[in-house]
Amino acid sequence: MSVFITGASSGIGAGCARAFAATGRELVLVARRGERLKTLAQELEAAHEVKVHAFELDVRNRKTVEEFVERHRSLLTRVEILVNNAGLAAGLSPLQEGSVDDWDQMIDTNLKGLLYVTRGVLPYMIERARQGGDCHVINVGSVAGRWVYPNGNVYCGTKFGVRAISESMRVDLHGTGIRVTEIAPGMVETEFSEVRLKDKTKAKTVYSGMQPLSADDIAEAVLWCVKRPRHVNIQEIVVFPTAQSSVSLVARKM
Ligand SMILES: NC(=O)c1ccc[n+]([C@@H]2O[C@H](COP(=O)([O-])OP(=O)(O)OC[C@H]3O[C@@H](n4cnc5c(N)ncnc54)[C@H](OP(=O)(O)O)[C@@H]3O)[C@@H](O)[C@H]2O)c1
Repeated sequence: MSVFITGASSGIGAGCARAFAATGRELVLVARRGERLKTLAQELEAAHEVKVHAFELDVRNRKTVEEFVERHRSLLTRVEILVNNAGLAAGLSPLQEGSVDDWDQMIDTNLKGLLYVTRGVLPYMIERARQGGDCHVINVGSVAGRWVYPNGNVYCGTKFGVRAISESMRVDLHGTGIRVTEIAPGMVETEFSEVRLKDKTKAKTVYSGMQPLSADDIAEAVLWCVKRPRHVNIQEIVVFPTAQSSVSLVARKM
């Protein structure tokens, strides 16, 4: 049985890949940066003697995702865990000044990309569950999918959407035995802020004077959900760093 992780080339996705590899599971990893995935796959295969399949895939491209699913049917029949993690925030501006290109990228990745991958992979998981497999979908949402903050607008909109889609999946999969969990992290130090602010130095200041979560903290939470007995479905987990009390309240020691 295998674990399919989107956005495994960095941050939380790579953390999940490491955590699942350590449990000895076969992995299917996708992201746009194929070289990075290849390096990670080699590292994990050497460290854990697991099989890791790494594929360059842009989840925004519907046709490419459909072709990927068609081409890799035999791999997909073994998938029991799908981690829908690929996502990003782009920009941080008031709605009236926002970049429409940034909005398109967030909506296309965080919502449509998640849907394209899920539409392709889930039928295989349903069949697997029908044959007795212990199947589980983990959607990486955000605290931005529960509370809005100034200039978060469209990113928050996509993550509110991920929350609604996670709830919908759970009801639509009723009776299949497939578990659905949404993990909603607060501040995690990954490449997230670099991507959002398009500036490495500014990105560092996001975490200055406070201890953010690490990708491994979130990967551990994901693994914990999966390791519960089959009759236990952790529907959602909200994880903040201790220094962050709400979406916009952070205690910093300067
Ligand atoms: N860091 C935080 O504070 C935080 C908090 C709450 C929620 N989250 C969520 O956690 C998830 C992971 O983010 P992260 O913090 O780990 O950031 P990250 O280090 O920037 O990782 C994002 C991952 O998504 C992949 N990705 C982006 N666009 C993609 C596309 N079109 N097709 C395929 N893969 C794509 C990236 O790979 P490529 O660039 O190689 O494609 C990368 O592997 C996101 O959904 C994010 O919204 C993060």
